[in-house]
Amino acid sequence: MQQQPPVSLSHTGFHVFDMEKMIGFYTRVFGFFVNDKANDGRMVFLSADPKDHHQLIMFNGRTADKDHTHFSHVAFRVRDMDSLRALAKRLATETEVRDVRTCTHGNAWSIYFKDPEGNEAEAFIDTPWHVAQPFYKPIDNMFDKTDEELAAWTDNMLNEFPTKRPFDDWRKDMARKLGME
Ligand SMILES: [Fe+2]
Repeated sequence: MQQQPPVSLSHTGFHVFDMEKMIGFYTRVFGFFVNDKANDGRMVFLSADPKDHHQLIMFNGRTADKDHTHFSHVAFRVRDMDSLRALAKRLATETEVRDVRTCTHGNAWSIYFKDPEGNEAEAFIDTPWHVAQPFYKPIDNMFDKTDEELAAWTDNMLNEFPTKRPFDDWRKDMARKLGME
């Protein structure tokens, strides 16, 4: 699949109470770089991908309180399971992070958490499988399993679901729908 998709998600923007705290969190935990800032500090652009000048924009002036976020969640794809493990370790040292939990969506292995301002965030890697969504199965102690154990357990668990198929097959169908073959 060489062709550029007609649309790809590039960045999301959200309002924050405390810009310095939120920049600190996202640069520490995910390795984002601050690429630009408005002169008055009202907006900040962060990225961890050379393709995108910014993947996150943070704006000052959040008014929605911590328990009433204005979006469901934002999800970050990381490189591999070791990256997810390392991220989980960093999250464990963050005193203001809450509700950390791990799961599979069949097509992903994910860690979910609330960031220091209560925004729901997810980090994930793809599994090799597609399964009809929504699909959610919590996995306790996910990081205690080796990559091989986790893959074997997930593969076997998904066998009960008739929509299970190789993710690459699903991707080919999607590319066809978009005229990208
Ligand atoms: Fe998600």
